[in-house]
Amino acid sequence: MTRAALIGLGTMGPGIAATLARAGMAVSCYDVSGAARGNAPAQIAAADDVLARLDVPDRGNGGPVDICESLEACVDGADLVIENVPENLEIKATLFRELGGLISADCIVASDTSGIPISALQKNIPSPGRVVGMHWSNPPHIIPIIEVIAGDETSAATVAWMVETIKGLGLKPVVVKKDVPGFVENRVLYALMRECVDLVEQGVIEAEALDTCVSWGIGYKLSVIGPMALLDVAGLDIYEAVGGYLNKDLSARADVSDYVSAKTGQGMLGMKTGGGIYDYTPEKIATLRAERAAKLVAVRKILDSQAP
Ligand SMILES: NC(=O)c1ccc[n+]([C@@H]2O[C@H](COP(=O)([O-])OP(=O)(O)OC[C@H]3O[C@@H](n4cnc5c(N)ncnc54)[C@H](O)[C@@H]3O)[C@@H](O)[C@H]2O)c1
Repeated sequence: MTRAALIGLGTMGPGIAATLARAGMAVSCYDVSGAARGNAPAQIAAADDVLARLDVPDRGNGGPVDICESLEACVDGADLVIENVPENLEIKATLFRELGGLISADCIVASDTSGIPISALQKNIPSPGRVVGMHWSNPPHIIPIIEVIAGDETSAATVAWMVETIKGLGLKPVVVKKDVPGFVENRVLYALMRECVDLVEQGVIEAEALDTCVSWGIGYKLSVIGPMALLDVAGLDIYEAVGGYLNKDLSARADVSDYVSAKTGQGMLGMKTGGGIYDYTPEKIATLRAERAAKLVAVRKILDSQAP
């Protein structure tokens, strides 16, 4: 049985812990924050409820998730450490240096970084060949893809082990062959976001209409036909003709749009402050979260049932 240690119990940690435990790993967790440790059991239980609704088999023979009071206790005997500490190179590098003195030489160390190069992280540990990117999507207990990223020093065996481990969780590993900033999922997402923000900022469309257009148009279609397959469906000649005049008209700005910075400057950060692009009340947030989780579960069940 794999012994997994999870470091960081913020947005991502609890859902990952629940996923690993339900798949039969022995899971221990640690967070520097006592509040995060205190909140974790309820969050892990809530994620486990969603996994049950997704019909994920319960192989929880690793026992209940252990919440540890120290990093040392958490990683003791671990085969796999997954770090989910904040997206900050110094915080992660410091953690890696601490881990170096605590784990065995053959323990795999995975980082859930959204885009910090794995090559920069693995320099901080005595066994860099065992360090690999394991980039989950939020909410991690619902979205089935995980990017696997090799840094310059990651061994092929570590990548292969991670791919097999993710398959063993019933999830979908996608190997990113170059350690590029943002990896693949966020590069594609941010290219889409840049164009969407630009269209709203230029007054081409209202935000709500844009969301309807993308969700019910390409969003709906892309969950069934990926973009490269879509090129074949549309015809590469059509892409060549349209891309020939349209690509040069698309947003290519290198900074973040004023539309966004004007809002952040006023403290309008989105759901967490009650307003961003849209306005929110606490009741509306609770309803939206429940509705969206239920829809994601329903869509994933349909897609899983039709998978080849
Ligand atoms: N939030 C997302 O949508 C998302 C999606 C994919 C990947 N990620 C990545 O996952 C990582 C974690 O993101 P998050 O959104 O869960 O962050 P978060 O800020 O919600 O949680 C981070 C947690 O780490 C704890 N922490 C800080 N330093 C620590 C240390 N030295 N040891 C132990 N615990 C420590 C904090 O107390 C906090 O609870 C980041 O690298 C992020 O880029 C986030």
